[in-house]
Amino acid sequence: MKQEQLYEGKAKKVFATDDPTLCIVSYKDDATAFNGLKKGTIAGKGVVNNRMTNMMMQLLEKKGIPTHFVKELSDRETLVKKVSIVPLEVIVRNVSAGSFSKRYGVEEGIPFDEPTVEFSYKNDELGDPLLNTYHALALHLATKEEISLIEDYAFRVNDVLKEYFLTLGVKLIDFKLEFGKLPDGTIVLADEISPDTCRFWDAKTGEKLDKDRFRRDMGGVEDAYREIFKRVSAN
Ligand code: TMP
Repeated sequence: MKQEQLYEGKAKKVFATDDPTLCIVSYKDDATAFNGLKKGTIAGKGVVNNRMTNMMMQLLEKKGIPTHFVKELSDRETLVKKVSIVPLEVIVRNVSAGSFSKRYGVEEGIPFDEPTVEFSYKNDELGDPLLNTYHALALHLATKEEISLIEDYAFRVNDVLKEYFLTLGVKLIDFKLEFGKLPDGTIVLADEISPDTCRFWDAKTGEKLDKDRFRRDMGGVEDAYREIFKRVSAN
């Protein structure tokens, strides 16, 4: 049973339930970019992100990666294990794009020999600054063991998702993950895996099927969400 709202983020709300170990995530159509500077609505996004995230979480569970997923409740709502979020945004990249291209002055679309991982400090006031493991340890954001496990999970998630999306004719360019801690200290994958948090390029045409269409005012935003959702749903 849904109880009081615990938290409202930019794209989701979190509610308490009768069970203190569980909460309900509710996905909104609200979209932001550049740390909330750009605001808009993407009609139907909440449904796509909720259902797609749940499909990805179940696929990853099958492959041995523990997640917070418990049960899809409706189009927009999902029951999840209550976690305390590790305040790290974990970004895995297979191909140059976005802030990587900007920071290092390389064009978008160059495949890497090996995937990369990087961390940002999840802190809106500071604009989610990039940090390394030493910084994360200095700030007590996680322990050495936790960071090493998170990195290991992140690359395993990449292996699973990269292969999966290729079967749908989609290149997984990069994505952002967040992890949470259960009361017993277990680290699990949390948050979402959606066109908001991944870059998806059509393998044949290179067409963007993700939130970059919103970030960059490219148009066809809703169509892109519909298209990627159609492909994951058909599989
Ligand atoms: P970036 O190239 O802008 O650093 O983004 C890398 C990936 O992380 C991309 O797939 C989009 C995702 N992302 C988020 O999920 N949330 C964010 O706040 C940002 C900046 C990126």
